[in-house]
Order: sequence, then C-alpha cells, then structure tokens
Amino acid sequence: MGLRSILTIVSFILSVATGILLSRSGKTANEPRHERPVIGLSMDTLKEERWISDRDFFLAQAKSLGAEVLVRSANSDDTRQLRDVESLITAGVDALVIIPHNGEAMARAVEMAHREGIPVLSYDRLITGAETDLYITFDNLKVGELQAKFLADRLTSRERMRIVRIYGAKTDNNARLFKQGQDQVLQPLIDAGKMEVIFEDWAEDWKPENAKKIMNAAITKAGPQIDAVLASNDGTAGGAIQALLEEGLSGKILVTGQDADLAACQRIAAGSQSMTIYKPVKQLATAAADLAYKLATQRPILAKHETPNGKHPVPSVWLDVTTVTQDNLRATVIADGFRKEEDVFRK
Ligand code: BGC
Repeated sequence: MGLRSILTIVSFILSVATGILLSRSGKTANEPRHERPVIGLSMDTLKEERWISDRDFFLAQAKSLGAEVLVRSANSDDTRQLRDVESLITAGVDALVIIPHNGEAMARAVEMAHREGIPVLSYDRLITGAETDLYITFDNLKVGELQAKFLADRLTSRERMRIVRIYGAKTDNNARLFKQGQDQVLQPLIDAGKMEVIFEDWAEDWKPENAKKIMNAAITKAGPQIDAVLASNDGTAGGAIQALLEEGLSGKILVTGQDADLAACQRIAAGSQSMTIYKPVKQLATAAADLAYKLATQRPILAKHETPNGKHPVPSVWLDVTTVTQDNLRATVIADGFRKEEDVFRK
C-alpha cells in the first residue's frame, strides 16, 4: 500500500472523528492536466487595499508549492466575473478559487466548472445556491459581534446611544453576516431603549463614496447629535469619516471598521476612527492556496465546519479575528508584521 493510500485512510478515520473529508465524488475525477497544477483565481475587485494583500499572499504560497496561478479581477461586475471564470476554465485550470462579487450570481460559475470536473473553493465570501466544494473564511458573525460589542461597551448605565449603521454590499453574503452578528448584540439594547438607530443603509459595492452619501443623509436627517457610526468595514468607515470631517464632527463620534487597512490604522492612531477588526489575511490566503493546491492535485481535505448555502452544507474552514483599538495597535497588527510602526504612526 502506497504512502498516499495510507494518508487517505488516516485522513478518513480522522474525518469520521473530527470533521468532514472532502472528496471529489460525484464529479469527473480528472487526473491533474498539467505537470505543475494550475489554479484559477477569480477576484471581485482589486480596487480595495485588502484584496491586493489577499492576491499577493495567495500567489506567494501557491508559487512555493510549485503551482501556477492565473488571476482575473472583475471590477465588481457579475457578467465580467462569469466571463473571467469561463476563460479560466478554457485555459484548463485544475482548480478554481472564486472571491465572488455576488455570491448568488456565481452559482453559475460553479456549475460551469463542475461540468468540466473542476472543483471550486469559495474564498472569504460564500457562493450560495450551488454545490460549492469548499469554503474558507473568517468568523464573519464574530466580526459583526465585535464591532457592535465595541459600541455596547462604551454605553454607560444612563446613556441612550444614537447610532448610524452603514452595512456593506447587499450582494455580499458576508455583509449580511456582519449585520446579523451586530444585531445579536444590538437588538437587546435597542429593545431596552439604550440604543437608537437613527439612520441605516447598505453601501452599494462597499464603496466609500456610497458610505459618505449615507453619512451625509444621516446628518441631514438627524443633525449632529450622533454618538456612533457602526460602519461595516474600513472603506465605508473612511467614507463616513470624510462626511464627518466636512461637518466638523470627525474625532467626536465613535466609528467602527474592519480589515485593518493601513489608512484605517493611521486613523485609529490619529483618533478619527475608533476601532477596526484585524483579519489575518496572510493566514487566510496561505491556507486557501494550500487547499486549492490539494483540490488541484486531488488530495484529501479535512474541513471542520459546514456552512449551509441554500443548496448543500459547504465544508468550511473558519479563521479567528481580533478587535484593534488605539490601545493594542502595536500588540496586534504591528506585532504580527501586517503593518509597520513607521507607516501607522506617521509624523
Ligand atoms: C470582506 C471584507 C471587505 C469587504 C469589502 C467583505 O466580503 O469580508 O473584509 O472589507 O468584503 O471588500
């Protein structure tokens, strides 16, 4: 019995005890088509800082494993992303990694890939309504919970906090999960009359300029008596802070975020943003490249979790996240090498 068969059996026994073993059963079990496995990476966008890091870490790890990666970016356009996936399939990739602009629309991409026997890894955002093979992400509910908890912790016993909520893109399953996580913390406070949502809206495509418009509309409606802006990521936080700056309110209102973008870390150091969530993207991208390599070379994969996606429970890997404030910028993102001291604390 070869080493590979022994490993497969050991993984299988482990999976029964601890998790889910992913196999390609049900799909054409192709032999890898190339000597060096080829992985297709279809991205929603490269216009936000975070996704450039994801791509670079992914490429570095795939290269170190000896895989070739073909990258496409769809510029937040579903039709273009479907075309990208088509072109990657035509190029003969052995596995596909998709960061969907719209999780629902990319179900078609999974179907197209499966017709050619190509497995699909859903990266960070879930592809819904399809037999997505594997999903790797952060604990997205926890992201929302930590953002809301940060605000809840700043409530004193007599206070009633007036907040503006800026959600992400409606087309992104994560945006709904962040909201759901926030709701779990906020609803009891709202019900107890300790918090009031004075304005809320979804920022189309997560764009800062759309978040700025939402913030402008909130100030127009409610005036400057706002205690906090629950912005769902750093891009939308940046847009909201721009609106606050124009009204002379920047630094006077709590603002949340997520991603530990460099600009957000600088704002936290300077005091115009109150917190962000650090999601170790290097860990995500490196693990994703490892998984994509295994999919491409048909090695067994062990995933501890499952995420229902409306079609089937998708074997999933979830990574942990951390709250970052002025107090722990150095102990978190800087200590982890994600940001440099001299970049964050610019003179
Ligand atoms: C990601 C966030 C990101 C947002 C906008 C979400 O799906 O989880 O990290 O800020 O998309 O790109």
